[in-house]
Amino acid sequence: MTALLHPLIKRLSDGKFHSGADLGVDLGVSRAAISKAMKKINALGLEVHSVKGKGYRMESAVSLLDADQIRNEVSRKSASKIQDLQILNSIDSTNSYAMRCIQEDLLSPEPGKYTVTLAEQQTSGKGRRGRHWVSPFAQNVYFTMVRLVDTGVIKTEGLSLVIGLAVVRALKSLGVGDLAVKWPNDVLSENKKLAGILLEVSGDVTAVCHLLIGVGINSRCRPEDMEDVSQPWTDIYQVTGKHFDRNILAARTLTHIMQAMDELETHGFRNFQEEWQQVDVMMGKQVELISGTNSQFGVARGISEQGALLFEDATGVRAVSGGEISLRSTESQ
Ligand code: BTN
Repeated sequence: MTALLHPLIKRLSDGKFHSGADLGVDLGVSRAAISKAMKKINALGLEVHSVKGKGYRMESAVSLLDADQIRNEVSRKSASKIQDLQILNSIDSTNSYAMRCIQEDLLSPEPGKYTVTLAEQQTSGKGRRGRHWVSPFAQNVYFTMVRLVDTGVIKTEGLSLVIGLAVVRALKSLGVGDLAVKWPNDVLSENKKLAGILLEVSGDVTAVCHLLIGVGINSRCRPEDMEDVSQPWTDIYQVTGKHFDRNILAARTLTHIMQAMDELETHGFRNFQEEWQQVDVMMGKQVELISGTNSQFGVARGISEQGALLFEDATGVRAVSGGEISLRSTESQ
């Protein structure tokens, strides 16, 4: 993205008319450069209209991500744990970017601290199980937090569920209703996917390693961007009828994730089991357990004290876990 686009979008983000001449003077470029940049903004999916005599106006007001605003909105205790927070305009994936930075020694949070990378757009956003995460410019929230973890202290299995619950807590605190989780960590509202979490690890998982917590929250999706998404999906605008500032959404989610991580370290996963089960969308339902090309049919019975899925079939109840497993309800909705 050219250096001009970001300040230009910022000026247009109020949803008011701005003349090409004024914008040119303001940003120190020609009117022709402004007109060219408008085409690029349209190509990003942010519709800009030009009206003779009035100038340019963005179809709907957008709020761009702002590092200072996010830091100010994060709770004071959590803010002290953020070692670094950066916003990228466009990147393949915030998780892939963070992984590359760790491997090149460019990103190394001190023990107990986090680095946070947010992006306005991901060109190859990653979902679980090799899926793509649709990440258009300035529409939703995409970020990756990195933390050093001692897996002797934090068990990654329960951790993945804890992050899902933290996202639920954050969204609930903002008034988003009918929230649920689907094992291990899909966040749903009205039975449709609202947010996703992708955990990755760099280093020795049996000792101290870097944990990457990737979170994507649908705040306002355009149906045309979501055409290839096979699961039912929703966004915060559909659920609440309100436009949320993405900075507030991001800050609230970061705060709850850091608080939940502290809680996990102090009390262990057991502290979350009951709360998780209260929002478990599959509890007691007939399900299909899918692992690669294998699938088994049974009933979901909640989770164990470690966060494993309790699955019941003719042979009894057993605890199953693993990153490649997913669940599908076989009951008619
Ligand atoms: C899922 O499939 O439910 C997980 C989706 C995770 C998406 C987020 S967006 C920020 C981070 N970067 C990525 O490439 N993926 C995660």
